[in-house]
Amino acid sequence: MSDNNSNHDHLEPQLLAAPNTLLSLLQFLSPYKRQIFIFLIALLITAGITLSIGQGLRLLIDGGFADKSEDNLNTAVLFIIGLAVLMAAGTYVRFYLISWLGERVSADIRTAVFDHVITLHPAFFETNRSGDIMSRLTSDTTLLQSIIGSSMSIALRSGISSLGALIMLLATNFKLSLIVLLSIPLILLPILYFGRRVRTLSRQSQDSIASVGSYAGEVIQQIKIVQSFTQESFEKAAFGEEVERAFSVAKKRIGQRAILTAMVILAIFGALSAMLWFGGRDVMSGAMSGGDLGAFIFYATLMALGVASLSEVYGELQRAAGATERLMELLHAPNEIVLAELITADVVNLQASITFNDVNFCYPSRPNQAALTDFSLTIPDGKIIALVGPSGAGKSTLFALIQRFYESQQGNVQFGGVDIRELDLEGLRQQIAVVDQQPTLFTGDVMYNIRYGKLGASDEEVIDAAKAAHADEFIRQLPNGYTSNLGEQGVRLSGGQRQRIAIARALLKNPRILLLDEATSALDAESENKVQLALDKLMKGRTTVIIAHRLATILHADQIVVMDEGRNIAAGSHHELLANNPLYARLAALQFSADAV
Ligand SMILES: Nc1ncnc2c1ncn2[C@@H]1O[C@H](COP(=O)(O)OP(=O)(O)OP(=O)(O)O)[C@@H](O)[C@H]1O
Ligand SMILES: [Mg+2]
Repeated sequence: MSDNNSNHDHLEPQLLAAPNTLLSLLQFLSPYKRQIFIFLIALLITAGITLSIGQGLRLLIDGGFADKSEDNLNTAVLFIIGLAVLMAAGTYVRFYLISWLGERVSADIRTAVFDHVITLHPAFFETNRSGDIMSRLTSDTTLLQSIIGSSMSIALRSGISSLGALIMLLATNFKLSLIVLLSIPLILLPILYFGRRVRTLSRQSQDSIASVGSYAGEVIQQIKIVQSFTQESFEKAAFGEEVERAFSVAKKRIGQRAILTAMVILAIFGALSAMLWFGGRDVMSGAMSGGDLGAFIFYATLMALGVASLSEVYGELQRAAGATERLMELLHAPNEIVLAELITADVVNLQASITFNDVNFCYPSRPNQAALTDFSLTIPDGKIIALVGPSGAGKSTLFALIQRFYESQQGNVQFGGVDIRELDLEGLRQQIAVVDQQPTLFTGDVMYNIRYGKLGASDEEVIDAAKAAHADEFIRQLPNGYTSNLGEQGVRLSGGQRQRIAIARALLKNPRILLLDEATSALDAESENKVQLALDKLMKGRTTVIIAHRLATILHADQIVVMDEGRNIAAGSHHELLANNPLYARLAALQFSADAV
């Protein structure tokens, strides 16, 4: 647990400095150049057709009605029908491709972010709440998908048709076009001003939604604790507060957008009325034909609608920028475990020994509190070392360092005499299997959970491992045997059963180094005996470090190391330590007395 890990924490500031524009999306769009190209062509075709309707309108008014020629009318209508068919086809292609692109890009981003996050150093997850990360992966990418798939499409379409309409306006009547041009800044100013505020609020909005999600997630995961301490009403109130916070940010955001839309509409209709007034006078005085005015109003409306939907969409695009920003931060979060540039040895050829050389280590979230101090220890190949010490002495921390979940600040950890920072990280971890103090399992069946140790293992191998871990018997008694679902994090098993599944999983991995964090509390005498038998099998022929709480384990060990406050204070056999080390003698009297009788 980290000190900063309070419920209301947001992502660490270090995360907030990453690149933050929609431009970073380009990298994800670039593999789909072909689709984008076809989309653009369809877009141009449909925009061209929309614009040509204005000309059709002019012909209809000036030619069809005015000249009373039925032939002209027929040709015009046929022409329009032809255009409509082309328009439908173009719209189909355009809509399909852009929606496809939205889905595709958000799927790609989701994968890229997950792929990156899953390799990050564990300390990252102590300072960033899992709920926040989940929300980025799900709701931010969904937002992005809907925005690329719809808003961006609307933006492009409106942009192109407004531009085309403007050109046609200028070609039709220059004087009236000036009115349109003058009104454009009136429309754009509020868009730019409010758009920026919408963007900031949108980011806050997404952050607070994430916060709601992770609050609920934690409470639901710990539901038994909440209920047993009868803190439901406290949690209701606290959750209600989170929800209200999210609501009030959202309210601010939609308030800004509503103002934005209203102002744009006002500006547009103001300009349209001015145009009607000037244009109507020109038609009356004969300076301009009715068809021209009709076409002009058509183009002006087209342009106004385009600009209006641009303004609407601009807010959406700002939201997308907010979501992209959050995703890119996560995608560029640096990994503090730096992979070796030069791998000096192949770990497979090294002896399976572990050495700590004068290691000083503090957890990153507690830089002022040493978890290990001047810690030195050699664990020879093939030997069993038992670690003993009071709670908080740093025993589990040693395991984390051996697996290189954290980097020591001073000194080093060696595998077979080589600094682990010079080894291939994956190769190193492949040599090691861990059975944790509180083994956690995945949602899934027994087969899946054991096979996690070695994905390619056959059913027979899995069952053999379960047998060796003395788990086969209880597994067969589960409702569906090996295909019984274990529930989230394996909640449907007892502590001792979970531990034996974890042992089977470790056995299947067949590691050279075994790290066992014993948890006696989870076990009754009988399953303790079974777990012990399983462990004996597991330890055979491997280098084993075992955090020992049981006398039986300690008697098995080749050497016992006593730890206190992050230091290695003594090493020797049970009897040597009993005689020479008061801390050990005390621990032994307390911890092992139950075993002794
Ligand atoms: N992720 C972490 N972030 C910050 N501090 C931590 C973290 N994990 C452990 N610590 C601290 O480091 C110290 C050593 O913890 P460690 O888990 O190694 O103890 P331990 O010897 O395994 O104890 P126990 O027998 O209770 O399991 C403790 O003071 C603990 O509070
Ligand atoms: Mg521990």
